[in-house]
Amino acid sequence: MALLEIKDLHVALNDGTEIVKGIDLTVRAGEVHAIMGPNGSGKSTLAYALMGHPSYEISGGDVLLDGESLLPLGADERAQRGLFLAFQYPYAVPGVTVSSFLRSAMNALRKARAGGTDDPIPIPEFRKDLAAAMEHLKVPRELLGRYLNDGFSGGEKKRIEILQMALLRPQIAVLDETDSGLDIDALKTVADGISDLVGPEMGAIVITHYQRILNYIRPDFVHVFAGGRFVAEGDAELAEKLESEGYDAYLPEGISGGA
Ligand SMILES: Nc1ncnc2c1ncn2[C@@H]1O[C@H](COP(=O)(O)OP(=O)(O)O)[C@@H](O)[C@H]1O
Ligand SMILES: [Mg+2]
Repeated sequence: MALLEIKDLHVALNDGTEIVKGIDLTVRAGEVHAIMGPNGSGKSTLAYALMGHPSYEISGGDVLLDGESLLPLGADERAQRGLFLAFQYPYAVPGVTVSSFLRSAMNALRKARAGGTDDPIPIPEFRKDLAAAMEHLKVPRELLGRYLNDGFSGGEKKRIEILQMALLRPQIAVLDETDSGLDIDALKTVADGISDLVGPEMGAIVITHYQRILNYIRPDFVHVFAGGRFVAEGDAELAEKLESEGYDAYLPEGISGGA
């Protein structure tokens, strides 16, 4: 069973500004943890740091997956260990179709897990897995032949990300504002897609500013993130309280809630 342990984690920008100032979090398979906080509080910084983005420096603490520190590993090795990050702002990759991107991502993971030997997924098996996941996530077939995220709507980008997640079957998924820019139907489809994957094989960290997505993915734990720290923790009821009362009561002196 997957176990992600974040221990007294500090993250700084390249200029040395500390954004994440010591957080502790343990995520097990089957659990959904919501991290909620005002804009600009450092939620994306935390997500990028977990994935090993070079613009974010771990200035203290540790991150372990199943007892092994991820810090010495690059982003690709972290993905091979079973960490998955869905970006708040997915980038476009002109010239690479959705279909070939998904197949390359799967094959890269299979190669790493086979100890570096090529072990490409047989095409019929790929087509079958893909078709099942696409139907479930209501991804139109015509998207497969288009260039990744090139001119995609917000909803299309998020669906493709969850599709990628469904195919890669990560142990711990980090979803950064997966709800942003989605209309209610897309939100429900994407949220249901995530909920279906959470179980004995996968745990999730759902990062969000609004409580909305949590109506469809019930969190087991809610952590309020402000000023670089968790300032309140609770269950799903805390998210509902935040929705009605806002973040102000949780903000440290002198820190504004952001836009
Ligand atoms: N790559 C970066 N370069 C410069 N500043 C950054 C970078 N990433 C984040 N920041 C700054 O760090 C703070 C936290 O940003 P972010 O993690 O995006 O917050 P959130 O996701 O909670 O809205 C902001 O002040 C933001 O401007
Ligand atoms: Mg963000």
